Amino acid sequence: MHYGGDYNPEQWTEEIWHEDVARMREAGVTMVSLGIFAWSRLQPAEGEFDFAWLDRVIDLLHEGGIAVDLATATASPPPWMHERYPEILPVTAEGVTLGPGSRQHYAPSSPVYRRLAAELVTALVERYADHPAIVMWHVNNEYGCHLHADYSDNARDAFRAWLRERYGSVDALNDAWGTAFWSQRYTSFDQVLPPRAAPYSHNPGQLLDFRRFTSDMLLECYLMEKEIIRAAGATQPITTNFMGAFKPANYQEWAEHMDVITDDAYPDPDDPESFRDAAFQRDLMRSLKPGTPWLLMEQVTGALNWRPTNAPKAPQQMAALSMQCVGRGADGVLFFQWRQSRAGAEKFHAAMLPHAGTGTRIWREVTELGAQLGSLPELPSGGADARVALVMDWESWWAVESPDHPSNVLDYVAVLQRWYRALHRRHVMVDIVPPERVTADAYDLAIAPALYLLRAGGAEALSTFVAGGGHLLAGPFTDVVDERDAFLDGGFLTRLGPALGVTIEDFGALAQPGGTGQSEAPLAGPFGTVAGTLLAEEVVLRGATPVATFAGGRRDGDPALTEHAHGEGTGWYLATVPDEQGADALAGWALDRAGIAPVLEGLPVGVEAAQRGSVVTVINHGSEPAVVDVAGRDLLRGEPVTEVHLDAFGYALVDTAASDTATPDAAR
Ligand code: GLA
Repeated sequence: MHYGGDYNPEQWTEEIWHEDVARMREAGVTMVSLGIFAWSRLQPAEGEFDFAWLDRVIDLLHEGGIAVDLATATASPPPWMHERYPEILPVTAEGVTLGPGSRQHYAPSSPVYRRLAAELVTALVERYADHPAIVMWHVNNEYGCHLHADYSDNARDAFRAWLRERYGSVDALNDAWGTAFWSQRYTSFDQVLPPRAAPYSHNPGQLLDFRRFTSDMLLECYLMEKEIIRAAGATQPITTNFMGAFKPANYQEWAEHMDVITDDAYPDPDDPESFRDAAFQRDLMRSLKPGTPWLLMEQVTGALNWRPTNAPKAPQQMAALSMQCVGRGADGVLFFQWRQSRAGAEKFHAAMLPHAGTGTRIWREVTELGAQLGSLPELPSGGADARVALVMDWESWWAVESPDHPSNVLDYVAVLQRWYRALHRRHVMVDIVPPERVTADAYDLAIAPALYLLRAGGAEALSTFVAGGGHLLAGPFTDVVDERDAFLDGGFLTRLGPALGVTIEDFGALAQPGGTGQSEAPLAGPFGTVAGTLLAEEVVLRGATPVATFAGGRRDGDPALTEHAHGEGTGWYLATVPDEQGADALAGWALDRAGIAPVLEGLPVGVEAAQRGSVVTVINHGSEPAVVDVAGRDLLRGEPVTEVHLDAFGYALVDTAASDTATPDAAR
């Protein structure tokens, strides 16, 4: 179990470094991410490097037994760079150049930025590749955070090159984007621009490709650094830190290039349900690279600085959320940052070592958590043996949130999280995967909400899943367009129709609550009567039978949920987006029908259960004490148990396969 945080020694005097290492040992720190924003200190001028201070820090950490995740420091270019090369700066869609003075002020496609980043990384890796303290390379930091897209001339040139590579000819591009519409036909790639500010809606194919391009440019930066590190002979794992469901970067594509998935997560302690969304994020990370552990690279010990209001974490909440990561496959928990800054934009951001020092609750909790993580035996590797797949797809996310749709208020991740929360309340382990990863061997139930853009391979996988015995619950606005964001011949649900036994004639957008017009579509079925939102589609039965019908509103009496036997499996189609209670009821019904067992039954509200191989983690996120029946070896207390008592934010990790597992009778 790795334990530690971002360490920014360049903010402190050398005397403090010595104190830091001593305190890190006290806190049980095993690893720090070093020098993430140290570029200006490492390279005071072009061609001039200063590594002497970093040598001393790394040696000091090594002597103290603290391993180093060495950052390449390329996320915040130093002032000399924009002074000499202002063309590295990014530009917004409106043509505003984003200046320096913050961080991430570089155009990812800028050849000058890339050249200078490459020079820094080359110098760093040549010096430290063989240093025994270095156990991992931390490339850049949170690619795309703050700068979600760049529209500069660098981007323009790179976008044209990217399109040439993708389409080969301008005719193929015209065909893919449907440029016959609105007189957009290009006769040369040199006429194509990033989707900069325009009088009205952009071409959807162009928007989608620009999203792909933006993700690819960031990934190219990562791969450039990764290749430099490997070429220098470094053998340590290489990673960059993700940010959960982060729209600008397609992590499902990026994952294969990460040796370890690492994630930064900042659930809002003011939101009593945010632990479920945090679990969604952990499960997404675990699902990106199945069977391998991941690391929580950043979280906060207490209060943040960047929300409008920044509530502190409650006592023990930080430890509870840390154990949620461990229970869901993480092999380490780290923080931003080790020592709270004295100056700068993040001086109010809590840290492992607070500004107020070691006589604080945060410090006590930090040292306790370090000791607990250090006492854990090796845990089963990342897998959760989930039998439920929640289908999430970055390209579909990009396309479904493009403008000019029947409903332009559909928030893709919010819909996914609503389903996830329903599954989480039922203590069912879930993998969050793209459609291509859904197979009947791996899963019994797949839920695919709003899978608007469906690639041929994804359609094939989902159909084969049903034919092979799986239960597919497809939500509305699914299988509408192909990978170009264009309709296919033959209407909608053209690929999944045979497995679902329905087609769609109209999407039936609903008004927003409080607006004029019908905003809710009640549906009645074996799960009771629940509310649908956003869409109430007109379903045409093509072999399926209705399980639930709309009860009132413009689709009164029409099918709202249908069922179709296909091969050995079952295809369900839901013609509306259920609200929170609706998703809850429907998820319960679908889990029953698919025969999915929870990790534990009968848990009090607010208690979470997660499975990692034979280890069951239970966490009480509520404020009332709870007792949970679970038999096995309590790994933190080192004793056999048949039940565990959890105070507010209490937790237990129980190995249910341990040889000294207590049986309920023996324990009595
Ligand atoms: C991000 C960054 C860190 C820090 C934290 C603050 O995760 O990677 O450098 O800014 O946010 O929460």
